[in-house]
Amino acid sequence: MSDIRLEGVTRRYGTVAAADEVDLAVAQGEFVTILGPSGSGKTTLLSLIAGLNRPTAGRIFIGGRDVTEATAQERNIGLVFQSYALFPHMTVLENVLFPLGVRKITGPPARAKALEALKLVRLDGLHDRRPSQLSGGQQQRVALARAIVFKPDILLLDEPLGALDRKLREELQVELKQLQRTLGVTTLLVTHDQEEALSLSDRIMVLNHGRTQQVAAPTEAYLKPANRFVAEFLGIANFVGLDGGRTGLVRPERVRLEPIGVNGGRPARVVEAIYLGQMVRYHLVLDGKDAAPMVAAAPFVGRAWQAGEPVAVSWDAADIWPVA
Ligand SMILES: Nc1ncnc2c1ncn2[C@@H]1O[C@H](COP(=O)(O)OP(=O)(O)OP(=O)(O)O)[C@@H](O)[C@H]1O
Ligand SMILES: [Mg+2]
Repeated sequence: MSDIRLEGVTRRYGTVAAADEVDLAVAQGEFVTILGPSGSGKTTLLSLIAGLNRPTAGRIFIGGRDVTEATAQERNIGLVFQSYALFPHMTVLENVLFPLGVRKITGPPARAKALEALKLVRLDGLHDRRPSQLSGGQQQRVALARAIVFKPDILLLDEPLGALDRKLREELQVELKQLQRTLGVTTLLVTHDQEEALSLSDRIMVLNHGRTQQVAAPTEAYLKPANRFVAEFLGIANFVGLDGGRTGLVRPERVRLEPIGVNGGRPARVVEAIYLGQMVRYHLVLDGKDAAPMVAAAPFVGRAWQAGEPVAVSWDAADIWPVA
């Protein structure tokens, strides 16, 4: 049975549909990431599920129960927002105790739960600090502890790592994934960061203008995008002409570069070679009257192609995905 089910969920603001007939079924324990450009309706969708906002049309089910009209308090949901929204005048421990107090859990049982949650996010020992005495990553962990301390049925995370630098963000991504597995809690994460989405989630949901573009496993959405928007939103897409005037897509990792005249391929020229650690990204221009730009990505093994060099470009027919 689905843990979260959305049926035709719509939220209009005047003429703008921030959520436009969204359908979604999230399984118990599943980790789904909502991905989309700014203003595409990601926060709107989370706030509708959390009960902080009401749909104009459609139904919302949690654990099989229709909660469309239920208040936020009647839904057992843990929330983390981008700005951690910790209480600055409270200590770490008091912050984590807060949602328990709201639920009338107090005294030693509350303290035990709060300490357990803080341990889960590896913050034991910092209980008595105030948020201003913590790093951004530590504050984010407090926010997570506060969201999980009452054992929510569902965890909703809105850009929880958005304010952190890249390295810390990557560390916390791993921790978040492990925490989510340990708790087995059904999770919806909102992010701008497609790498984060692709690496963390069981499935991703791509939104644009409040409408679902695709719901699929990360690799499927990346290699078999439902449309041009998804293809371009999830990384770099090379569009190639197919027979019958249709358009196909080849991802940069699937583009082969070889010396001219060895195995055939289309003649091209390297415009730029960009080192990305272990990979090199090549910007190319195919020769000929259409002179189309392309991007290839290949592991750096000893030697890289240099800007200005001619190369033969090829790809397997199996790596072409037709896009609408
Ligand atoms: N209270 C409101 N009144 C009017 N319009 C709103 C309101 N809240 C959101 N919107 C509009 O709904 C659309 C979706 O907003 P939402 O905050 O859900 O986007 P988002 O995907 O979370 O964007 P971001 O990535 O910037 O956080 C936007 O066009 C926004 O301007
Ligand atoms: Mg938002």
